[in-house]
Amino acid sequence: MNTDTDQSGELDELLREVSDRARPAAEDGEVADYIPALGDLDPRRFSLAATEMDGTEHTTDDADVPFPIQSISKVFALVLAMQKADQGSGVRDELWRRVGREPSGDPYNSLVQLEREQGVPRNPMINAGALLVDDVLLDHCDDARASMHALVSELAGEEVGVDEAVMQAERDTASRNRAMANLMASFGNLTHTVDEVLDLYVDQCAISMTTRQLARSVRFLANDGIDPASGRRILSSTLTRRVAAIMLTCGTYDAAGEFAFKVGLPCKSGVAGAIVALVPRRMGVCVWSPPLEPSGNSLAGRVALSELSARLNLSIF
Ligand code: DON
Repeated sequence: MNTDTDQSGELDELLREVSDRARPAAEDGEVADYIPALGDLDPRRFSLAATEMDGTEHTTDDADVPFPIQSISKVFALVLAMQKADQGSGVRDELWRRVGREPSGDPYNSLVQLEREQGVPRNPMINAGALLVDDVLLDHCDDARASMHALVSELAGEEVGVDEAVMQAERDTASRNRAMANLMASFGNLTHTVDEVLDLYVDQCAISMTTRQLARSVRFLANDGIDPASGRRILSSTLTRRVAAIMLTCGTYDAAGEFAFKVGLPCKSGVAGAIVALVPRRMGVCVWSPPLEPSGNSLAGRVALSELSARLNLSIF
């Protein structure tokens, strides 16, 4: 009969095998290079981390090397907005009037749909949708930036910082995001100035975390909204399911179908090469490998999650 320690050791070994199989795929991807701080990322960096509900952590390789979480922050921003909705402040109706819940089928930074659909972004996981969520947060939080940092630090179990160089560079190269915000404003779907919204957005993209911290941080979404570390309810069951559903359908952009097919778990990617995944009632997972496939998701990350899901039979379908 297996003891817990045996099982934990088996999972360590399995993560190592999955990492070994996935790592070579990175050679066919491209590291994002729209800012030097990302272009300089070593394409050989890799880590796979899983945190179980009892807090047991399993990690491989560069599990303690920080990187900017980029679009993974869109999950935390949505959670914060959902928390406001949970508090009955009318945010729920407002949010879903101003942003949709459908996959876009377009790149994460596309402007096309926004023009055709009167400034209402398809979902909160693409750039336009995240800017919209940030606009909502600016309305409903006393200090949205501080609230975001407090939430992420609480979930990570330690203080998280911001990569100032990344933040500055994001701001200096934000022409497309600025264009999206302006387009939404032109349709009357932005209440704050473009600069205020962008400031919050570039700050959240530059939050610096490790795969170990991210695996911990998303566990509550796999645990009915309760952070297993503290026992604190972060989000109601219903809204937790909603966030997970949006991650599954929209979290990996135009590859969401492929992720559902191969991985079968709610996931969210960031352009620095990390992907978080939720294994309901079992664990939070994060993989990091900077080279991306054309949709903007980590290539070796996708391979690792497919392999992990297949080996442990994790698909929710
Ligand atoms: O706004 C941007 O384009 C980037 N700072 C974040 C995009 C991102 O992470 C897309 N994910 N793969």
